[in-house]
Amino acid sequence: MCGIVGFSSLNKSAVGPLVNGLRRLEYRGYDSAGVALESQDGIKVYKQTGKVAELDKLLSHALPESERGKYTIGIAHTRWATHGLPTRANAHPHVADNGNLALVHNGIIENYAALRSGLEKRGIKFLSQTDTEVLAHLVATFDKGDFLVAVSEALKHVEGTYGIATISARHPGEMIVARKGSPLVIGVGEKDIVVASDVSAIVAYTHQVIYLKDGDIARITPDGIDVRSLDNSPVTREMQEVDWDIGSIEKGGYEHFMLKEIFEQPDALANTIRGRLDPSGGTAFLSGLSLSPRELAAVGRVVIIGCGTSLHAGMVGKYLFENLADIPTSPEQAAEFRYSNPIVGPNDWVIALSQSGETADTLAAVRESIRKGALVSGLCNVVGSTIAREAGRGVYLHAGPEISVASTKAFTAQVIALLMTALKLGRTRRLSFEHGDRLVKEIQRIPEIIKEVLAENDAIAKVAEKYASADDMFFIGRGILYPAALEGALKIKEVAYVHAEGYQAAELKHGPIALLSEKTPVVALLADIPGKEKTLGNVQECRARHAPVIGIVTKGDEAAAAAVTDALVVPHASPEIAPIVSVVALQLLAYHVARLRGCEIDQPRNLAKSVTVE
Ligand code: G6P
Repeated sequence: MCGIVGFSSLNKSAVGPLVNGLRRLEYRGYDSAGVALESQDGIKVYKQTGKVAELDKLLSHALPESERGKYTIGIAHTRWATHGLPTRANAHPHVADNGNLALVHNGIIENYAALRSGLEKRGIKFLSQTDTEVLAHLVATFDKGDFLVAVSEALKHVEGTYGIATISARHPGEMIVARKGSPLVIGVGEKDIVVASDVSAIVAYTHQVIYLKDGDIARITPDGIDVRSLDNSPVTREMQEVDWDIGSIEKGGYEHFMLKEIFEQPDALANTIRGRLDPSGGTAFLSGLSLSPRELAAVGRVVIIGCGTSLHAGMVGKYLFENLADIPTSPEQAAEFRYSNPIVGPNDWVIALSQSGETADTLAAVRESIRKGALVSGLCNVVGSTIAREAGRGVYLHAGPEISVASTKAFTAQVIALLMTALKLGRTRRLSFEHGDRLVKEIQRIPEIIKEVLAENDAIAKVAEKYASADDMFFIGRGILYPAALEGALKIKEVAYVHAEGYQAAELKHGPIALLSEKTPVVALLADIPGKEKTLGNVQECRARHAPVIGIVTKGDEAAAAAVTDALVVPHASPEIAPIVSVVALQLLAYHVARLRGCEIDQPRNLAKSVTVE
């Protein structure tokens, strides 16, 4: 949510790297963007509404190449509006001290109203409606000669979350960055230093990074980084190597990141699985969980927390844990969980699912669970992310960077990670070697099974053509396919702006069936799982109300194919894998409907990939 970039070099222009960095972070927010550039003549700020491309256009008029070399230090921001409309005035950077100080911010200053009225009483005029502008003025007010101290003092008055970068003409050559609750990474190149909300904006320059922790503040000059705590004591943060390469964050010939990421799933999932199966024991190794068989055996309940697509993966997890490990499992929406005074304790295992590892509500739920003494693990994709670090133990998905705002490969990787976890837990309890062995073999086959689904891409695109003009759709599934139906509905809402609802197949007749007509296609998840016959009955009920039915049916299942209006064929898979197989087909369906409707697939309106506000 909001992306920030900073660049500091002895001799290279900051303009190109800042704009490139913003492009990489655009998935975090894209309603307006801006840069502040420092030269010997002071600070210049350029802001524009709309996407980073609009800012780039503005800069190409305002700043000829010949002038760019003098700006070697700068900060930049791409916004997802929280306080105030996405106007140019509300775009970051925000300035203070008569334009001598510029600041970019990701997060929310919760006490901004009180701070603002205090500053206004002292005669300070505000130019925007944002919470961030308060912070810029506050820093300027505390500036008595040491920039880092000024920022620390200002931050001590702030309640809320922030990742910030700021520059000041009074302190040429210095950039101060700080974080609390919003991510910030410093990339250390040979000659340049790049700061960003995440590593995707850094890997084009360097793979050496320092992850700041909450409460850290750093002074960055072209030749050095000095990390401190807010009370100005030195802090040591290790340099780490990032293994993402630049190819993995580019489109690689695909029209959209979403399509690329859907097609990457065989490889991504092979990475999630690699080295984690133990065929001789019919189980999985998940060393990151660092729980002994004794500890696992003592677990009385599993609680899976997440938001959005991650929550849907968690709902699949319920079926996996309950069926394979005989353990009561509750999937919980993270925000609801954290504010419900949750009853969790030492016998509960709380598993936080998060692609980004930064979702504010999931993070808060993790902290609450730790406070209450539960065992807590994180299943995250982004290495070094806050949830991964704070949970202390967990499993990385290794699905590679996910850039498209709508999550695809992270979902399937999460389900597999949960499946391997459930297998391991089951094998410490009463799951037999034979059953475990069968599952190990099935998990090994997943990348090949997914390839078979992807081979149906053209057929799915054809069916999408037939239904692309529908404005309302229903998705129905039962058992382990119910969360897959929710995920199918979410995907088509997010990327194609089709109003869609996911329902338990049996629940449709308790109300929503009143809405069915020839204009409301129903997508029925009919892969081979127990209860499929019942869903086929529900299909008949829909067709009797003239609703066309698109069935996700197993190859060779002639009865299911004949029962629906259009069949999307998927390979045979065991029930544990059926949600993955079905969701990949639904991802493609949503993608093609969105493409045919001319939607902005990778950056749908109003959304952001990483939701770091409540
Ligand atoms: C946002 C994204 C979704 C994502 C959800 C949870 O809403 O648009 O795609 O599923 O956040 O994100 P997380 O990073 O915690 O999985």
